[in-house]
Amino acid sequence: MAGPTYQDIGRRAGVSTATVSRVLSGKGGVRDELARRVEATAATLGYRSNRAAKTLRTQRADAIGLVISDVENPFFASIARAVETVAAKQGYAVLLCNTDEDLDQEALYLDLLIGESVAGVIIAPSTEELGPLRQLVDAGIPTVTVDRKVAGDPFDAVLVDHRAGARGLVEHLLDHGHRHIAAIMGTTAATPSRERLAGCREAVEAVDGARLTVYEGELQDAVGATRTMGLGERLALNLLDRGRDRPTAVFCANNLLTQGALRAVRRSGRRVPDDLAVVGFDDLPFFELVDPPLTVAAQPTEQLGRLVAEVLFERIFEPGRPLEVVVVDPEIQIRASCGPHPEQLTSPSRG
Ligand code: RIB
Repeated sequence: MAGPTYQDIGRRAGVSTATVSRVLSGKGGVRDELARRVEATAATLGYRSNRAAKTLRTQRADAIGLVISDVENPFFASIARAVETVAAKQGYAVLLCNTDEDLDQEALYLDLLIGESVAGVIIAPSTEELGPLRQLVDAGIPTVTVDRKVAGDPFDAVLVDHRAGARGLVEHLLDHGHRHIAAIMGTTAATPSRERLAGCREAVEAVDGARLTVYEGELQDAVGATRTMGLGERLALNLLDRGRDRPTAVFCANNLLTQGALRAVRRSGRRVPDDLAVVGFDDLPFFELVDPPLTVAAQPTEQLGRLVAEVLFERIFEPGRPLEVVVVDPEIQIRASCGPHPEQLTSPSRG
């Protein structure tokens, strides 16, 4: 509801609108007794000067925004947990926003967070383009990206070396003698997919006679984890139905694609690693419980969440500090989903 106008205040105080304007805009030139009457009337009517309202607006709330693409995904859930722990210690609440990698949804949430005058934003952006995030820059809101970068590096960032993790997994497959390797990819608009595919290519190109076949597709109607798992399953079935020339091993670009691929192998009556060796980016607790246990590049999600929250609060409390980009190494967990190592065919198999 709009507050009282200068005219409302002048009418109630018995002075002209010009007198009200001079008093409330601080221009002065009004007798003390009249000035006091105008100020008292303005307070009674609930008037807030633009300056007071602006001060209120620029006073940040004791809350930060956390914008992630899939709240159901264990990767982001673990990050959110760690962020909330750090924020609570600083006395800040966390406003959790789920974008489903949808740019319109992301823009809606950013607009809301700016309107709520949050103290800062942590975001895993749905694209590397700065455009959708420019409103954060324009609003002067401290912002840190996690898991993904933005073109031109306008923000602090906490990332994992996606390329190195993917390269390490594919090198492991190559070491096991695989020469036709598939890569099942998710949305390539964000950093992880693009950099992981680059890591796969780098490993394959270093070995004569090795080749990479990329499988990617559109996420279908379901939402959250279900749709990414569904994509992984569809792409893995395409791969398995390819006939004699099909890849003998597959790199899955994230935890949910891996789950879908494992389901495809199981539902088509095949076996890992006999029919298809499988490696995946990201670990999940049950990946070491499946038979055979899965070889993965694990991301230190608790560390990522803690680091990104710490970097954001450093930015909030010290706005002028130099830009900070932290890159954490993924941990290659060698288990048993790639078959026996050629050199160890005479000894017990390992992944
Ligand atoms: O599905 C989880 C994936 O989404 C992770 O690999 C993480 O990097 C995020 O991009």
